Amino acid sequence: MTKICCIGAGYVGGPTCAVIAYKCPNVQVTIVDLNQARIDAWNSGNLPIYEPGLDEVVFACRGKNLFFSTEVDKAIVEADLIFVSVNTPTKKSGIGAGFAADLAYVESATRRIAQVATSSKIVIEKSTVPCRTAESMRTILEANSHDGIRFDILSNPEFLAEGTAVPDLMKPDRVLIGSLQTPEGIKAQQALAAVYANWVPKEKIITMNLWSSELSKLAANALLAQRISSINALSAICEATGADVDEVAYACGLDTRIGPKFLKASVGFGGSCFQKDILNLVYLSESLHLPEVAAYWKQVVDMNEYQKSRFSQRIVKRLFNTITNKNITVFGFAFKKNTGDTRESAAITLVNYFLQERANISIYDPKVDDDQIRADITELAPVEAFEKQIKVVHDPYQAAKGADAIVVLTEWDEFKTLNYEQIYAGMNKPAFIFDGRLILDSKKLRDIGFQVEVIGKTL
Ligand code: NAD
Ligand code: UGA
Repeated sequence: MTKICCIGAGYVGGPTCAVIAYKCPNVQVTIVDLNQARIDAWNSGNLPIYEPGLDEVVFACRGKNLFFSTEVDKAIVEADLIFVSVNTPTKKSGIGAGFAADLAYVESATRRIAQVATSSKIVIEKSTVPCRTAESMRTILEANSHDGIRFDILSNPEFLAEGTAVPDLMKPDRVLIGSLQTPEGIKAQQALAAVYANWVPKEKIITMNLWSSELSKLAANALLAQRISSINALSAICEATGADVDEVAYACGLDTRIGPKFLKASVGFGGSCFQKDILNLVYLSESLHLPEVAAYWKQVVDMNEYQKSRFSQRIVKRLFNTITNKNITVFGFAFKKNTGDTRESAAITLVNYFLQERANISIYDPKVDDDQIRADITELAPVEAFEKQIKVVHDPYQAAKGADAIVVLTEWDEFKTLNYEQIYAGMNKPAFIFDGRLILDSKKLRDIGFQVEVIGKTL
């Protein structure tokens, strides 16, 4: 029986390796992490991350061929294939601070593998890493391993999106496996391809050289984020001219060379990866003495910041140039719908802006925990400001009671079907709605009496 170990039980390691266990009953999968609370949650009825369909997958194989544990060394020793799926956040200090990926977690997992492995292993980079990280991993593994043990390193970046992780993993657009183009590298590549071949059609399993594979992951995220920044840049032109960004996106998306996906204007992209990976690419370009290339990609992130600040300013302007002591209701705190994840959510930036303008803010999100909202906001603002000015409310009608304005920051479907007549009746007048996700029926809202403001549209 093939044994797989996954180091890192996060948003990627958990769902990815749970789906491998689900699709490959003959493979034993052990997902390990240093974080005891996270592992306890994976072993409980209340999984640590919310993903539609994930409970069913985990509950179907946990205890059979899927295990969650903090016994990292044991899982390494037993495994044939080891996924390294640890976090690679942007560095906060030191060389490259604010841009470079912090590879400390990848390195410590790699060193652990070298130290405890008693047999040859295939080590798989699942984390998103700068191009040529596999070379550093190889050097560390070879310098620290026991005699006679061989390590083959593969790059197998993950393309799942949060909120759709399970369907993305069940039916991926492609599975990418990069290896050194040596006979051993190609053999390792085939061993991993054989695991995926249990459910992924062969033509969707793409093999290539290691460096292309590593760079393809950064490139894919940069290209996706670039589309959002492009449509958001156009949304500013729409607001200034009377064009409608949804219509512009529709017209452009019908061109098969452009395609319709990822052209939804918004208050700005969030999530743990787009910004981090682009900054990583910017840093890589600068390190390679390619300043024009670095500046090109940096603009994608700058445009995203501009979009958030532009929307915040529009809100204040429409509310008669002041929101001090006004009641602002925020609908949605997650970085996108169908996830409880708030990493780099646009809502964090906007709520902090409203705090600085001394507004009273009530926040409603169907999935994000109160503690998470508190932690995100108090990372940037004083705890006293949070206590005094912010309420986290568990009912949207309650959250909007007495509000001067509702600001929609996450595209949760339930926001489309709320009873806005009821909400309007309980709000201060004039009652404003700012739709930062272009999901509400503005005509209907205007008929109710709302003042409606939408990104990329002048109504
Ligand atoms: P995460 O923070 O949710 O999970 C990482 C886990 O690794 C944590 O639980 C941490 O405790 C654990 N860890 C760190 N060092 C460890 C060690 N030495 N031994 C054991 N456990 C250790 O991160 P994530 O969102 O799962 O992302 C992981 C990687 O995948 C990142 O490189 C990210 O860029 C990439 N990625 C993420 C997504 C996504 O949707 N979140 C999608 C594709 C790729
Ligand atoms: C993204 C990529 O889509 C995944 O392929 C990749 O694996 C992942 O990053 C990663 O490397 O972490 P994710 O961040 O989970 O996935 O979610 P997306 O659906 O890409 O959305 C990212 C942000 O862009 C969200 O805030 C979303 O609301 C926003 N968005 C997305 C838009 O504003 N407009 C769009 O048209 C699409």
